[in-house]
Amino acid sequence: METTDLVLAILHHLLAFSLAGIIAAEFVLVREGMSARTLRRLAGIDRHYGLIALLVIIVGAARVVYGLKGWEFYVYNWVFWAKMAAFAAVGLLSIVPTIRFLAWRRSAAADPAFQVPQGELATVRAYVRAQAALFFLIPTFAAAMARGYGL
Ligand code: HEM
Repeated sequence: METTDLVLAILHHLLAFSLAGIIAAEFVLVREGMSARTLRRLAGIDRHYGLIALLVIIVGAARVVYGLKGWEFYVYNWVFWAKMAAFAAVGLLSIVPTIRFLAWRRSAAADPAFQVPQGELATVRAYVRAQAALFFLIPTFAAAMARGYGL
């Protein structure tokens, strides 16, 4: 139904932009000299990353099943699977930062003067940068698959 398709498309876009916003926030916040407050905030933002990623999967799957084009349009399209692979890769790259954010928050709660070790900071920054770079591929593939490329 057209209304279902429209509502799912709106939700999908809002969620996708929220996810981009969260990655951008992490990109900006993960810096040298983070305060205990920033470390708490980062862990909080990161929890929303997980929640929104889950909602994107649910709404995305609903678009495949209930979208106007029908599920066959997507499952036989390699660009759709490239988009799924990019999304999965971004998700996998988020695991290390999530583990670190939780550990940093714990350390900052135990010791307000806690400073993130340089090595850990460099690693997490590299992961967040890689996530941001790969994320750009997702809307690129999305636009191509929506127009029938990859069939
Ligand atoms: C499991 C995850 C996802 C699934 C199953 C999924 C599925 C879909 C489907 C079925 C469409 C409809 C395309 C059409 O009109 O034929 C779509 C469009 C779109 N998706 Fe996703 N998606 C997912 C994740 C994401 C993410 C993380 C982003 C982030 C940028 C994203 C961005 C878009 C955009 C921008 C469109 C609109 C493309 C256009 O109409 O030009 N999707 N997606």
